[in-house]
Amino acid sequence: AFVSLRQMLDHAAEFSYGVPAFNVNNLEQIQAIMEAAAATDSPVILQASAGARKYAGEAYLRHMVLAAVESFPDIPVVLHQDHGATPAVCQQSIRSGFTSVMMDGSLLADAKTPASYEYNVDTTRRVCEMAHAVGVSVEGELGCLGSLETGEAGEEDGVGAEGKLSHDQMLTDPVQAKDFVEKTGVDALAIAIGTSHGAYKFTRKPTGDILAIDRIAQIHAQIPNTHLVMHGSSSVPQEWLAIIRQYGGDLKETYGVPVEEIQRGIQNGVRKVNIDTDIRLAMTGAMRQSFAQNPSEFDPRKSLIAARKAAAGICKLRFEAFGCAGMG
Ligand code: G3H
Ligand code: 13P
Ligand code: ZN
Repeated sequence: AFVSLRQMLDHAAEFSYGVPAFNVNNLEQIQAIMEAAAATDSPVILQASAGARKYAGEAYLRHMVLAAVESFPDIPVVLHQDHGATPAVCQQSIRSGFTSVMMDGSLLADAKTPASYEYNVDTTRRVCEMAHAVGVSVEGELGCLGSLETGEAGEEDGVGAEGKLSHDQMLTDPVQAKDFVEKTGVDALAIAIGTSHGAYKFTRKPTGDILAIDRIAQIHAQIPNTHLVMHGSSSVPQEWLAIIRQYGGDLKETYGVPVEEIQRGIQNGVRKVNIDTDIRLAMTGAMRQSFAQNPSEFDPRKSLIAARKAAAGICKLRFEAFGCAGMG
């Protein structure tokens, strides 16, 4: 059944666990997540970006998610819009049945240029008024995602600031977070602690100077009733990088957010953990391997089955590591 993000994360806060929010674009990803949730008895957040809507089409996405809920009637599902760039985008998603929207007012409507604090407060507040009137939850973002190593946002296309960010822009200020929540009324807040979108987050296994997990507790202390969200939380498994390389892929050395660091985040108040890249890596690795090992196969379902299984494997591991298992 569909539930709002607020409902789901209130339960997560009460029982001190975190919920992975997986990005979805197609049938196999949705099936993989639902399968893993059923196998571990976990609640589900399916999130769709603007890129996902462009890829699949709004109607396909909506009906695939409806099919998922129909197929697994006992699993609570949040349908969340990831990184809404404008109130108009959020309004469209609300109309199409999303139970939660993110208004990312940390960037201007181009989803690239860092916005002023006033702009962020104003756009996010307007979305909260609109969404809360119909029982839809809202996630805001304060601070810009970006690498403390390089000062850059990470991903080349998609959602993320362009150009160099200052150290200040890349870390959420706890006192400002309190003001932001009071002025906007968001249910959940995405915070900047040194993570970035995509596969290239860190050039080495991250330590406290480039991944500011300690800041989470300081932010949580200021806004204990607002659920904290970690974006850019793929762990970038070295095993999948190795398989991609073994079967012809060309990926540079890179590191993600270690699962143990996410667990520390959850202990300190993180309730929603955004993951897209890990599923991409697992599916790409599995498909490359399947093509290489079965060169005479021409039924795409064979490689898609391998991809779906690989994605489900990642999801199961995250549900278990974040304390979700048994909470569905
Ligand atoms: O926020 C970034 C997510 O990974 C979505 O990426 O814009 O390529 O769908 P996308
Ligand atoms: P990753 O690229 O680390 O998977 O992050 C996804 C994300 O934050 C989506 O909003
Ligand atoms: Zn994100």
